[in-house]
Amino acid sequence: MVIESKYDILSAYGFHTHFFWKRLRYDMGERSMEEKRIPVIQVKDLYKIYRVGDSRVRALNGVDFTIYKGEFCSIVGTSGSGKSTLLNMLAGLEKPTKGEIVIAGEHMENKSENQLVRFRREHIGFIFQSFNLMPTMNAVENVALPLTFQGMDKKTRMQKADVVLDLVGLRKHKKHRPTQMSGGQQQRVGVARALVVNPEIIFADEPTGNLDSNTSKEVMELMRRVVREQNQTLVMVTHDNYLAGFADRIFRIIDGKIVSIEENTKKEESLK
Ligand SMILES: Nc1ncnc2c1ncn2[C@@H]1O[C@H](COP(=O)(O)OP(=O)(O)OP(=O)(O)O)[C@@H](O)[C@H]1O
Ligand SMILES: [Mg+2]
Repeated sequence: MVIESKYDILSAYGFHTHFFWKRLRYDMGERSMEEKRIPVIQVKDLYKIYRVGDSRVRALNGVDFTIYKGEFCSIVGTSGSGKSTLLNMLAGLEKPTKGEIVIAGEHMENKSENQLVRFRREHIGFIFQSFNLMPTMNAVENVALPLTFQGMDKKTRMQKADVVLDLVGLRKHKKHRPTQMSGGQQQRVGVARALVVNPEIIFADEPTGNLDSNTSKEVMELMRRVVREQNQTLVMVTHDNYLAGFADRIFRIIDGKIVSIEENTKKEESLK
């Protein structure tokens, strides 16, 4: 090619092509957006098959998805659709029959029980439907409990628990034992206990399952605010479409399969 003008030089480098401009836009803007999306949960071709007598239940029947850092995702489906099975597997509480789960860059399916315990302690918080609080301990002691496993001294544990209880609005209930608190207050202790270790990822299984709709909404708003402030990733399973609507993305599960994943454009409205 004979270069006769600056336009020839431009075209020699492909500057005139649609592709070039697209590439430039991508390099300057879109790629940096993409790069900010760090995958924290990757699920590939996941199956869980339970054997009951002679029959088999396909609780998870080929599941694939990726969840990114800082996202709040809800997984919504009817009773028996496989939500808890999926969440338990993500948290390493159960082994898959087949497939891959990569959390924070590490394969869960190859880990031994001891490695899983350590991994959960370092990366994962779990909020259960039934609050799972220790009945003989008061709110601060319950919240401080997971810190014991990190070998933290008592004074620091209590201080940390104190701060998180303020965060969830239980300033006045720190000395109350579970039986001396309402369901919503107990649930907030459960949320505080999951948050106190500042985990990268929080899994919540029907976290407001035992609460009335107003208290549920309060707990949802609280969880959403806190995980946003701390740039944590929250995965919540629920059968309730309204509660699912608080998330950034909504995954729908039917008979062990994810049938749709949608960006939730209405989430700000659900706060009102
Ligand atoms: N340990 C098990 N042994 C055999 N079958 C099981 C076991 N655990 C779950 N299942 C079956 O797997 C399917 C999915 O159960 P899972 O608990 O994941 O449902 P779910 O979506 O969490 O339901 P729910 O909303 O009622 O909590 C169901 O058909 C259930 O009966
Ligand atoms: Mg369940």
